[in-house]
Amino acid sequence: MEQTLSIIKPDGVQKNIIGDIIRRFESEGLVIKALTMHQLTKGEAQGFYAVHKDRPFFESLTDFMSSGPVVIMVLQGIDAIHLNRKIMGATNFKEAEEGTIRSDHASSIEHNIVHGSDAPETAAWEIAYFFSNLDIMA
Ligand code: CMP
Repeated sequence: MEQTLSIIKPDGVQKNIIGDIIRRFESEGLVIKALTMHQLTKGEAQGFYAVHKDRPFFESLTDFMSSGPVVIMVLQGIDAIHLNRKIMGATNFKEAEEGTIRSDHASSIEHNIVHGSDAPETAAWEIAYFFSNLDIMA
């Protein structure tokens, strides 16, 4: 069993497709172990995406991520990190496989509906950024 962090970004919440996204995760066998809805401050978005701080899109990305509520979840399952990324599709929606969340819903490389951890170390760090152990169901 593996855990990964998933965020439904402000564009996903704005489009009222939280249920559609969660259905896709659950129907592939991922189980929600923690869930919260929160509007990130600019500082919280900058901290979360600190790894991208020197990238040209950092300012715009952190503005976008703090522009409205997001849904933050811990997903658990076999090979959860890879499975979540498969369900999301490629970061660039133009390259995302048909039937993935980003292929169906994203409108730009930045407004790409969902975020998912990319490796076990980042998953552990990202989960701990938002949740304490007490918030995560056994
Ligand atoms: P995410 O998986 O959340 O990780 C970093 C985010 O930066 C990415 O999704 C996109 O929303 C955003 N982004 C904006 N421009 C780019 C870009 N050129 N390359 C990669 N990510 C980008």
